[in-house]
Amino acid sequence: MSLADKDRIFTNLYGFQPWNLKAAQARGDWDNTRDLMKRGQDAIIEEIKASGLRGRGGAGFPTGLKWSFMPKEPRADRPSFLVINADESEPGSCKDREIIRHDPHKLIEGALIAGYAMRARAAYIYIRGEFIREAETLFAAVQEAYDAGLLGKNAAKSGYDFDVFVHRGAGAYICGEETAMIESLEGKKGQPRLKPPFPAGAGLYGCPTTVNNVESIAVVPTILRRGAPWFASFGRENNKGTKLFQISGHVNKPCVVEEEMSIPFRELIDRHCGGIRGGWDNLLAVIPGGSSVPLVPAAEIMDCPMDFDGLKAVGSGLGTAAAIVMDKSTDVVQAISRISYFYKHESCGHCTPCREGTGWMWRVMERLRTGDADISEIDTLFDVTKQVEGHTICALGDAAAWPIQGLIRHFRPELERRIRENGGALEAAE
Ligand SMILES: Cc1cc2nc3c(=O)[nH]c(=O)nc-3n(C[C@H](O)[C@H](O)[C@H](O)COP(=O)(O)O)c2cc1C
Ligand code: SF4
Repeated sequence: MSLADKDRIFTNLYGFQPWNLKAAQARGDWDNTRDLMKRGQDAIIEEIKASGLRGRGGAGFPTGLKWSFMPKEPRADRPSFLVINADESEPGSCKDREIIRHDPHKLIEGALIAGYAMRARAAYIYIRGEFIREAETLFAAVQEAYDAGLLGKNAAKSGYDFDVFVHRGAGAYICGEETAMIESLEGKKGQPRLKPPFPAGAGLYGCPTTVNNVESIAVVPTILRRGAPWFASFGRENNKGTKLFQISGHVNKPCVVEEEMSIPFRELIDRHCGGIRGGWDNLLAVIPGGSSVPLVPAAEIMDCPMDFDGLKAVGSGLGTAAAIVMDKSTDVVQAISRISYFYKHESCGHCTPCREGTGWMWRVMERLRTGDADISEIDTLFDVTKQVEGHTICALGDAAAWPIQGLIRHFRPELERRIRENGGALEAAE
């Protein structure tokens, strides 16, 4: 099983051709966009539902279903908005920036069609502050679309008025969380809102809003052109479509690649990354979905289908499909401790379990790294992760808890060894 070139959505992923409008049109973008829109708003939503597309930002919520929560008849004084999440700050994730750099018109055309389907007046693309060159490309591509009459009044001659605004963030991971992003767009400190109300009820400026990931929106025009059954022909039931995988770490050739959802991990790595550094026997573990998900030991990931259900079955998650590969040279405790530091640093401080818990967990992780701990603290740390998980305003708390849980679940003997070698086990026994 491997995705054929003819079935790739992102045909300029590596930037071998120019990103500009002319080149994008030669690749098929903006081809009869008006006719796609003429199918009607509900028909577009139904087609996306039928395609099985699930959100590519991490949580995997069905995209068509999400759009259907938006009001069918927005009030004139309360317009609807689409917010496109280009924050991409999850460690390991690096796909949205490739779309924006090399294929921005797929995203802009997708914004118009998705925005039209959910009856939005405008889309705001919120791009991570550090993506300086990507933002420049995006600004220029949006301007090209306006100049060609593809955005603005009577966008693409569809009779629908639609604007796209690009908004640069200031470099905070938490602004990738949808309600923190909305706060930040409104000019406030980027801290998540309590839900409900959900954004579809009261989002940006208190108006109905849908937040979608860049990849979720950029695949929409191709799904409509080629049809839901085509998209749904890839991947297993409930895990449909093509997907951008991002593989970093100890493989021979790290890369971003579009593949069929559900491809087994071993095949993904052998086909596109030249195998594991030092061979498959040298694989220690993989964090398969960006730093927020629990690691999976080598034996469990090798034949695992890379999709939502496959990775859930091995106690982890697909997340953003950013696989961080670790070979046996990795100090796995140090790696997870560094991730804990990241979450401590990025916690917005809004709620107590996360504000206090992330720092507490990191400090214990650092002592476990050096073995300066008591064996009983491993269980205490696990208990604390359980008190953080599910008890916070947003999922950053879960993201901080899960990597540590994965480490304890799979590498407890390694943690105990370090403590023993440091004399901690004797203290515990006394
Ligand atoms: C701390 C945190 C950071 C997040 N960062 C991102 C991000 O950078 N990009 C993204 O698309 N979604 C991110 N999300 C998920 C968004 O809240 C939201 O679920 C997503 O943008 C929805 O898009 P989708 O339905 O198309 O996947 C983050 C969530 C949390 C809790
Ligand atoms: S879980 Fe953390 S990041 Fe999210 S709102 Fe609470 S303190 Fe802020």
